[in-house]
Amino acid sequence: MKALITGAAGFIGSWLARMLRQDGAELILIDNFSYGKEDNLVFEEHDFTKEVIRMDIRDRNGIKSIMQAGDIDYVYNIAGIAPLPDCQLNPQEAIDVNVNGFVNILENARIYGVKKIIQASTNAIYENATEFPVREDSFPPPTLIYPNTKFAAERFAQSYCDTYGMSVVCVRFANVYGPHADCLRKQPPFVPYLVKELYYGRTPVFHSDGTQRRDYVYVEDLVKLLTAVRKGTGFDAVNASGNASYSVNEIYQLAQEITGKHIPAVYADDRHYWEKYPGLFQGAYTIRDEILSHEINKFSLCDNSHAMEKYGWHPETGMREGLEKLIREEFRFLEKYDRENR
Ligand SMILES: NC(=O)c1ccc[n+]([C@@H]2O[C@H](COP(=O)([O-])OP(=O)(O)OC[C@H]3O[C@@H](n4cnc5c(N)ncnc54)[C@H](O)[C@@H]3O)[C@@H](O)[C@H]2O)c1
Repeated sequence: MKALITGAAGFIGSWLARMLRQDGAELILIDNFSYGKEDNLVFEEHDFTKEVIRMDIRDRNGIKSIMQAGDIDYVYNIAGIAPLPDCQLNPQEAIDVNVNGFVNILENARIYGVKKIIQASTNAIYENATEFPVREDSFPPPTLIYPNTKFAAERFAQSYCDTYGMSVVCVRFANVYGPHADCLRKQPPFVPYLVKELYYGRTPVFHSDGTQRRDYVYVEDLVKLLTAVRKGTGFDAVNASGNASYSVNEIYQLAQEITGKHIPAVYADDRHYWEKYPGLFQGAYTIRDEILSHEINKFSLCDNSHAMEKYGWHPETGMREGLEKLIREEFRFLEKYDRENR
């Protein structure tokens, strides 16, 4: 089996490369390193650093030459601009990568006969849902730029399947956590952020009152689903969720128990999260307060029965076990980072 993975130097793409290599797949790995990093590519059993081709998914000639050279069975399009405020601040770039880049993959896959494309989508497209757990087939359209890019990408996937008889599965990830999640970026995801604050013995700042609940999926469980969805033809969309929601306070409590560090958190109002992005508050039209608040306080919970029934997938990792693994690796990473950057 031969697979192309885009975004291979990122959090999820690197774990996927590891799992597919363990399964004996022949891999082509690409990343433009806009967010990815070489550290992600080093696992105990494999070092992928020399294998990754530095390429942008929007590069028409580059993607063409990879697909033309050939015999690619599966394309995993994991590359994307994921941080929500980055997409909101630079919508042209977000749409260019998350939509146009994906269409470049679809078009070349059409011409050169890829069996199936697996697209990294998101449960953020359910941001306006009011009934939970959310199933794949019925939800109100999203509002913010990031989920709209992923929603648009799904529409083009459906178009290629309906028009050309191609096969694409859009996997809608819940909040993914695990080792390699980037704790150093400007707006790190919540779990690696709180682990970083515990590592340095600092007081974490949470938004709202910490009772807001989201659903999660552990990264190694997710990549197992990404391998399982290769079966089947035509278009499909499938939720990847542990099917349980946890509050900010519950996760922080667990992390404190695991690390043995107990530091009371402080709580800031909803605007605080966005204030690192002054561009959103400048110009004739500025981001509306109810949008800021909705994003911080929104509840998420996806129904994962489609993944279980069609693809035989079950999330295996509980929150405590997943957090233990993340904390162990992130503490090791930060020790190394501090040593090298002292
Ligand atoms: N992490 C999550 O909780 C989560 C949840 C839902 C969906 N997703 C989606 O999963 C995918 C992977 O997320 P992640 O958390 O691993 O993010 P990440 O930022 O760690 O990885 C994305 C990778 O894509 C690369 N990339 C970005 N633009 C590119 C381009 N134009 N050409 C080539 N490579 C490019 C980046 O350098 C990075 O290595 C994204 O598409 C994201 O939208 C992630």
